[in-house]
Amino acid sequence: MTEEAQMQMNEPEAHFGVGRRKTGPVILDLKNISLSFGGVKALTDISFDVRQHEIRAIIGPNGAGKSSMLNVINGVYRPQQGQIVYRGEVRKNMDCHAAAKSGIARTFQNIALFKGMTVLDNIMTGRNLKMKSNFLMQALYWGPARREEIAHRIKAEEIIDFLEIQAIRKTPVGRLPYGLQKRVELGRALAAEPEILLLDEPMAGMNVEEKQDMCRFILDVNDQFGTTIVLIEHDMGVVMDISDRVVVLDYGKKIGDATPDEVRNNRDVINAYLGVECQ
Ligand SMILES: Nc1ncnc2c1ncn2[C@@H]1O[C@H](COP(=O)(O)OP(=O)(O)O)[C@@H](O)[C@H]1O
Ligand SMILES: [Mg+2]
Repeated sequence: MTEEAQMQMNEPEAHFGVGRRKTGPVILDLKNISLSFGGVKALTDISFDVRQHEIRAIIGPNGAGKSSMLNVINGVYRPQQGQIVYRGEVRKNMDCHAAAKSGIARTFQNIALFKGMTVLDNIMTGRNLKMKSNFLMQALYWGPARREEIAHRIKAEEIIDFLEIQAIRKTPVGRLPYGLQKRVELGRALAAEPEILLLDEPMAGMNVEEKQDMCRFILDVNDQFGTTIVLIEHDMGVVMDISDRVVVLDYGKKIGDATPDEVRNNRDVINAYLGVECQ
């Protein structure tokens, strides 16, 4: 057997991306973020940064503060302490609309789609921020509004092709299986053409095949659109496979921030995860 063939045989199962990705400068810098709800400290003095083109994972047990962290990044929650620097500028008083306009899109832990609307129409809602024509022009379907609508539909159809959901583009989202709904939600977020995409447990509740598909789409988004991704995920196999660096939260505190391999061997992380299902 040739040396090359031998090496191929020794290769572990297909790995998705670690080490292959080229990341850029810091695009988002979170400094000493603290957030509490009444007496509950959701986040305590958390700092970490996200580099351009990176896939940055946030892991930790339930209640660790992961979703709260995403809500701080996209302006839903305003931290009592700390600073957010986005593209080199300190972000002040940013709400979720301003965050979205500035290029931050997200999906939610619990799917947030219009269940009665078709896949295409749900993805079109992700274009709202990009629409210039006003309501009256759209109602009258007047020249520029019509041209704009057509351009947005073309973009939405591109996303539908990209996510391989052409066959269900006219299906009401509520009739789709869970895994496909998650994919549509990704499509809605992509429709905003974000610079940073925040994904809150995009693979929760999926079977192995659905997870593999979602992994592939996340990697393709990162690769083909250059999108920076912040990903909350419980499945450690997925985190190890696709992320560049991992932040570990536990009870609202940061207990680790390293490469997937380093995190895997960190005793604090192992302890925090005891009793939590991971692969
Ligand atoms: N809107 C809210 N009001 C009150 N408490 C909240 C709110 N959002 C989150 N929390 C609390 O903050 C902590 C962290 O929650 P969360 O960020 O959802 O954790 P995770 O996503 O890691 O499971 C929990 O104790 C949770 O109950
Ligand atoms: Mg959560």
